[in-house]
Amino acid sequence: MALDIVIMAAGKGTRMKSARPKVLHRLAGRSLLQHVLQAAAGLEAQRIVVVTGHGAEQVEAAVAGPEALAFVRQQPQLGTGHAVQQAAPLLHDEGTTLILNGDVPLIQTDTLQALVQACDGQRMALLSVLLDDASGYGRILRRGDPATGTVLGIVEHKDASPEQRRIQEAYTGVMAVPTRQLKRWLAALKNDNAQGEYYLTDVVAAAVADGVEVVATHAHDETEVRGINSPAELAEMERRLQRRIAETLMEGGVRLADPARIDVRGELVCAEDVEIDVGCVFEGRVEIGAGACIEAYCVLRNARIAAGAVIHPFTHMDGEALGVSIGERALVGPFARLRPGAGLGAEVHIGNIVEVKNSTLARGAKANHHAYLGDATVGERVNYGAGSITANYDGANKHRTLIGADVHVGSNCVLVAPIQIGAGATIGAGSTVSKDVPSGQLTVARAKAVALPSWVRPVKVKK
Ligand code: UD1
Ligand code: MG
Repeated sequence: MALDIVIMAAGKGTRMKSARPKVLHRLAGRSLLQHVLQAAAGLEAQRIVVVTGHGAEQVEAAVAGPEALAFVRQQPQLGTGHAVQQAAPLLHDEGTTLILNGDVPLIQTDTLQALVQACDGQRMALLSVLLDDASGYGRILRRGDPATGTVLGIVEHKDASPEQRRIQEAYTGVMAVPTRQLKRWLAALKNDNAQGEYYLTDVVAAAVADGVEVVATHAHDETEVRGINSPAELAEMERRLQRRIAETLMEGGVRLADPARIDVRGELVCAEDVEIDVGCVFEGRVEIGAGACIEAYCVLRNARIAAGAVIHPFTHMDGEALGVSIGERALVGPFARLRPGAGLGAEVHIGNIVEVKNSTLARGAKANHHAYLGDATVGERVNYGAGSITANYDGANKHRTLIGADVHVGSNCVLVAPIQIGAGATIGAGSTVSKDVPSGQLTVARAKAVALPSWVRPVKVKK
């Protein structure tokens, strides 16, 4: 049976009080709309129409989706019914249309699948949920028994009588409808209601009037169907989602110091016996090897951390596209900064206030204090002294620094790239070197100390 999907994403989201279109606000690192699209992608629809309006260009630019994705614009935004009217010309005449709210981000593919099956191209299938407090939601009206009676329609909160507001069965914003009839019901919508809008929810009464069977199935999981309308709701949803992610990690054996104090804004893949202390943020894709330990308040983005590595507190890794990789049993931080293309071999030590960018350090190399390594290739067992830097930028171009195995760079050195330091060389503290350094010997490039025995320290003149 042919399936089309409409995702409504044109609303302003007034209650967000934000210049950013509501559906682009982020939940666990991805926009609300991306979450919905991901759930929709699992259904193999022949077309997915996203209705944009408020901030349309921004919304359209922000989402890349499956091939079936198309956008239609709704200008001005006259309500959810009006939104689906704009999509109607793109819908196939036969089959089922599944309508989703762009602001209900955690909806799951199998829930949608079940709804499409319940519709079966001939019934109207609504997804509802029982809430202790359904304020703000449309309520499902039933004949007779409020739990099992035949569905008669949906009344919006603002239009509901005090008695109707006591109904706990809320409409989630998700419905599956036979497409041919949907088009007819949409065309007949009116806006004579409290908000002066064309309500999509009015198609339910139209279906009932036409003798089409309406079924409302309850979502079992309230979080899955929560809509986001305000910063408070967004924050609450973020916490719920993070709690779930934390639970999944713990089920997989990850030891979290506190499941309430971790944020995963992407994909975190952990091997056995990983420990994560409080306050860590994971973004993009992060992989952590067996027995590795992430200490408190680290922010890790697009990074691979091998088995047994220890990342001390307050370390920041941002791999962007190039990635950051940390070798087995490496020690990093506290306060280390690893930027794109930082690749540490096994047992490398990167200490406090050390920045590494687009550089590799081979096994056992150490840069322990206040240093910068940019565009460098560092050999095994190199010791890179406190305060030393690679001067990799001449104001126009970046150049590489090659440091051979077993080199000892003293404290406070400047290695002016392009430059090559031969294996086993030692560079004296405070040296600025701009020519290649021979291997195996000491190179010093600094002014000699001069002692002045006749010098007298000035004393303060008393007046
Ligand atoms: C809607 C439902 C309500 C339901 C709730 C569930 C209607 C009339 N009401 O109310 O029954 O309980 O969702 O979360 O449908 N949108 C457009 N164009 C518009 C207006 C809205 O595309 O002109 C989009 C919004 O971007 C949003 C979605 O439709 O993604 C829902 O709009 P919103 O204003 O949040 O509707 P609710 O008041 O939450
Ligand atoms: Mg809403």
